[in-house]
Amino acid sequence: MYTQLQLRGSARPPVNVATLGKMKADGEKIACLTCYDASFAVLLDEADVDLVLVGDSLGMVIQGHDTTVPVTMDHVIYHSRIVARALYRPFLVADMPFMSYSSKEQALQNAVRLMQEGGAKMVKLESGSGQLETVEFLASHDIAVCAHLGLKPQSVHKIGGFRVQGRDEEAARQMIRDAQALASAGADIVLLECIPAELGAMITRELEVPVIGIGAGPDVDGQILVLYDILDITTGRKPRFVRNFMDGAGSPLQAVKNYVRAVKDRSYPAAEHCF
Ligand code: KIV
Repeated sequence: MYTQLQLRGSARPPVNVATLGKMKADGEKIACLTCYDASFAVLLDEADVDLVLVGDSLGMVIQGHDTTVPVTMDHVIYHSRIVARALYRPFLVADMPFMSYSSKEQALQNAVRLMQEGGAKMVKLESGSGQLETVEFLASHDIAVCAHLGLKPQSVHKIGGFRVQGRDEEAARQMIRDAQALASAGADIVLLECIPAELGAMITRELEVPVIGIGAGPDVDGQILVLYDILDITTGRKPRFVRNFMDGAGSPLQAVKNYVRAVKDRSYPAAEHCF
């Protein structure tokens, strides 16, 4: 009983929402990566990654689709379960796939599946003002929630491509309002994807909860990237915010260690990775 309390004094206590909140308060950057299997999960744990996301990006990097839309609950649960089995210290978050949270009741049912079958400690959903009630409903059932704003890949067919969001003043103001509302509704983390660095900084200043960015500039509380992008496994044109950490690393483990160090010492992201 209460094993977590005993682990608190250990050299590498598991990360939880309180740890992430303290990191924000202390100004320590949070190093996050996506992961989809047990072998890489062991490696990410060894490299001291703080937070691991089983993202629906698995539809693109594992399954070979053009978008994340074909990913189902069963797919995320399968990958989350095998990652969870191999993780000790990092905090495990799993994505709610396309149309798995179209009502608050459906969201609750699926969030429970991600936690009970997938071993996730937090669920992430692509959100805006339309998801406030859902986030509030999940939070009221004591489910840890990460809200995802900015570029929302599940909406790719509606927005017409993977584009930087929040560039004009009204869109930026709306994103700030959405982020505040989602945090007030009970989101424990807000993730910002592909937005101007200045907007990332403003939202981070406004919110008490940790803000994690991917292509959101340096002044957020933590960074996340797709594992296969930093290991240079992804071929073809990569987004501007990606840095190849295999460069000069010698091994995937060293590359991930270099990523964690670069996030912590703020050398990643540099100006060339920002919008
Ligand atoms: O699905 C995913 O991997 C994500 C990250 C890009 C943040 O949502």
